[in-house]
This record gives sequence, structure tokens and C-alpha cells, in this order.
Amino acid sequence: MPRLFLIGCVWLAASTAAWAQGEALYKVVDGHKVDAETMKGFRAWRSAACDRCHGANQEGMVGPSLINSLKTLSRQEFAKIMAEGRPDKGMPNFAGSPGVMNNLDQLYTYLKARSDGAIKQAKVEPLP
Ligand code: HEC
Repeated sequence: MPRLFLIGCVWLAASTAAWAQGEALYKVVDGHKVDAETMKGFRAWRSAACDRCHGANQEGMVGPSLINSLKTLSRQEFAKIMAEGRPDKGMPNFAGSPGVMNNLDQLYTYLKARSDGAIKQAKVEPLP
């Protein structure tokens, strides 16, 4: 168990530093194989059916292209929009959706990797 604990600490430290700098943490291979956390982000995207409004490939529909939005949107801004929505503009809030609220960081990371062009298609699969 000590080894697992150590790995946990290193990951946590890395995440906190990256969060402070507004960076995304992800690993992508071949444009669609992703680390476990990014995979959770994709599952959150699927479970909340964000594609109904933002398009199957995040390219935008009723709602704006998240490929574009995530080029400038910070994690903090993203988290606020998820919790509060923009009811007057047609963006619902997801405060009552544990699948989204418990995976905010992962969802942001997944969308950021799409926006950065690291993930080449919306559908991803776990790295072996
Ligand atoms: C019912 C349609 C709908 C659904 C479902 C929806 N959105 Fe939106 N979303 C919108 C609209 C419309 C806007 C634009 C609001 C505005 O003009 O400020 C928006 C805005 C946003 C923004 C801000 C973009 C920007 O550039 O400011 C983000 C981020 C976002 N949505 C993410 C999501 C995610 C992630 C999900 C799923 C958890 C989701 N949305 C589900 C309609 C939707």
C-alpha cells in the first residue's frame, strides 16, 4: 500500500499545480485513446447529453462551439457555467446532476483536449 499512497500524492501535487496555472492534464494517444480521468470527462459529456445543443463533435449547434469556447474559458469560468447555467440564454445548469458536478475537472479536461486538437474525434476509448 505505501507505493499506491505515494503515487496518489504525486498525482495530487501535479493536479493542484496545473489547476493553479489553468492547465489541462491529459494523455492522448493516436488522437482518441485517453487516460482514465479524461475518459470520465467523456462519460460525463455523454451522460448529460451536451451534444443535444453543442453538437455531436462539440462543433456547436443551438449552443456555441466548445472547440472555440475552451480556447479561452478557464476552469473556474467553466465550473461556474456548469453550476449556474445561463438560463436567460438557453444554457441549463447542471447543479442537480452528480454525473456532471462530480466530474467537472474531468469534463473540462476532455473538452480542453478536444479544443487543443489533442483528441481528434468526439468518441474516445481508454488507453490500455
Ligand atoms: C438545452 C441546450 C443545452 C445543453 C443541453 C447544454 N448547453 Fe451549454 N450552452 C447552451 C447555450 C444556448 C449556450 C450559450 C449561452 C450564452 O449565449 O451565453 C451554452 C453555453 C455553454 C458554455 C459557455 C460557452 C461560452 O463560450 O461562453 C459552455 C462551456 C457549455 N455551454 C457547456 C455545456 C456542457 C459541458 C453541457 C453538458 C453538461 C452543456 N453545455 C449542455 C445550450 C446548452
